[in-house]
Amino acid sequence: MVDLAVSLGSLRLRNPILTASGTFGHGLEMRAFTPASKVGALVSKTVTLEPRAGNPAPRISETEAGFLNSIGLENRGVEHYIAHTLPEVAGADTRIVTNIGGESVADYARIAEVLADREEIDAFEVNLSCPNVHGGKLPFGTVPRVAAEVIEAVRAVTSKPVFAKLSPNVTRIADMAVAVEGAGADAITAVNTLLGMAVDWKSGRPALATVQGGYSGPGIRPVALRCAWECARNVSIPVIGCGGISSVEHVLEFLVAGCTAVQIGTASFADPTLPGRIAGELDGELARAGIERVGDLIGTIRDGREAQRG
Ligand SMILES: Cc1cc2nc3c(=O)[nH]c(=O)nc-3n(C[C@H](O)[C@H](O)[C@H](O)COP(=O)(O)O)c2cc1C
Repeated sequence: MVDLAVSLGSLRLRNPILTASGTFGHGLEMRAFTPASKVGALVSKTVTLEPRAGNPAPRISETEAGFLNSIGLENRGVEHYIAHTLPEVAGADTRIVTNIGGESVADYARIAEVLADREEIDAFEVNLSCPNVHGGKLPFGTVPRVAAEVIEAVRAVTSKPVFAKLSPNVTRIADMAVAVEGAGADAITAVNTLLGMAVDWKSGRPALATVQGGYSGPGIRPVALRCAWECARNVSIPVIGCGGISSVEHVLEFLVAGCTAVQIGTASFADPTLPGRIAGELDGELARAGIERVGDLIGTIRDGREAQRG
């Protein structure tokens, strides 16, 4: 038996497999496919203070290596989340991470405050890539100082672990990672979707009503791995890798590159049994490699910095 437990700040997980926000419902919708007890944590879809209708359709478009989405954070708002989702996940045999979003620093602080004392929630994941907020004027996801302000505001109202979910759509993700670490984040999730678009050349119509959208799935894995590695080598808090992961080998790649845990997103749409199945396969893979604790693999990449890591 391999020890699969990992810690994200003060949060201990039975294994390093989490679901990715927005790809697995809010909580237990997928229990028939992946029982909660199989994964380290379930991450909710982004919850905002007020209900959001999301963007106009079409808002999903398949590509040869993943898909583009412009859901626009559709959700029923925090009151509905408290009244309907939290009672449902209360008894779940896993950790519950609530992903929160906002349109201003005050919004993020307010939603964290409203949820801060809810016992059902084990940690917050702060979605810093909220699209088109303030008409794109408030760059939470791309300016380190602004991201830090959001994390500081959330940190100030809760003692639960806070994960900062970063956007890959920046020049130097390490600067973002260092900023949110300094602001008090307990872990970093790297990454959200890449900005992309598709167009039908005959009609001239973009595939998404919003023209641009978030690209996810197999095509982004090398970018996500590079982002996660860059974060991990520049901060001392844990990094949760996310982007294009669909097999146990992919999980092990992210762990070697420095991630303490991973999230599975787009791959769950094709196969919602995947998060549970991959978690189940980890034990055998590590045992075959003679590794007794998953922690022993984390950050073992031979990238020329081995000496510094000791
Ligand atoms: C349909 C869809 C909806 C998503 N909704 C959210 C969301 O509400 N909040 C969030 O932080 N990320 C959201 N994401 C991003 C994923 O959590 C994840 O970061 C991204 O898709 C990369 O991982 P993947 O390639 O494994 O899907 C969404 C992704 C997809 C495909």
